Amino acid sequence: MTFPGYFVSFEGGDGSGKTTQARLLGQWLGEVTGREVVLTREPGGTPLGAELRRLVLHGDHVDARAEALLYAADRAHHVATVVRPALARGAVVITDRYLDSSVAYQAGGRELSEEDVEGLSLWATHGLLPDVTVLLDVDPEVSAARLSGEPDRLERAGQDFHRRARETFLRRAAAEPARWVVIDAAAPLEDVQAQIRVDVAARLDLTPVVEEAAAVAAPELPPGTVSEPAEELDEPEGVAGGLPGGFPGGVPGDGVAGDAVAGDAR
Ligand SMILES: Nc1ncnc2c1ncn2[C@@H]1O[C@H](COP(=O)(O)OP(=O)(O)OP(=O)(O)O)[C@@H](O)[C@H]1O
Ligand SMILES: [Mg+2]
Repeated sequence: MTFPGYFVSFEGGDGSGKTTQARLLGQWLGEVTGREVVLTREPGGTPLGAELRRLVLHGDHVDARAEALLYAADRAHHVATVVRPALARGAVVITDRYLDSSVAYQAGGRELSEEDVEGLSLWATHGLLPDVTVLLDVDPEVSAARLSGEPDRLERAGQDFHRRARETFLRRAAAEPARWVVIDAAAPLEDVQAQIRVDVAARLDLTPVVEEAAAVAAPELPPGTVSEPAEELDEPEGVAGGLPGGFPGGVPGDGVAGDAVAGDAR
């Protein structure tokens, strides 16, 4: 079944910028499309999911198969109660991690079979895949250096684990290029966001909507009119220095409806 909404997932290693970039993209997509934007995440996008997240990320050792089942349980409930209803309303749903993280970490990292882990998630979600998946690709050593605070159970899993997860993401992206966009997440934050906007708009066939919004923000002058140099605009809140690429309105400080991102900052 196809939905009137748009479903976008962010994937990538710890500290690759998923939470930061998902929020910025959500604010911008809300602005240019006028649609409701639901920002959410896995695990933990629902009250049940928050409990599962605590158990799987902050509890004691969890057997690999039990771990895969807990993530799948979180995903099933999240899709049924948050994602599908929002897509049916016509919202833009942006999830910070989805099914591909399970394949990268529970199969790529933990060495369960990819087919099993993917099959479990597809069963859990009745086969719901994102319209576009943004992979923020960066060397795990670079992204680990960005993170502060106490590492969780997966963050402590070691370089090899994270290298295998990265390889799994890249391999999946190469195998299914119609769904994925791969972004160099070692680039400066503003450049990463600008590239994401271009690629996601193209994948969602939103380029005409984006151009129309840009034309309203900067109307074409009738012939013969002399344009004055623009007054220095106030810095948009949210991203220091604004964003390159001529996107209308920059990034506002808030205004994302239905922001379901809660709890710890992950
Ligand atoms: N392109 C970038 N360059 C430098 N620093 C960045 C960049 N993107 C994000 N950061 C910084 O890196 C840190 C981690 O970013 P963020 O929390 O968005 O990553 P994440 O992928 O959500 O991490 P996690 O997997 O731990 O949830 C933040 O302090 C953020 O400001
Ligand atoms: Mg995060």
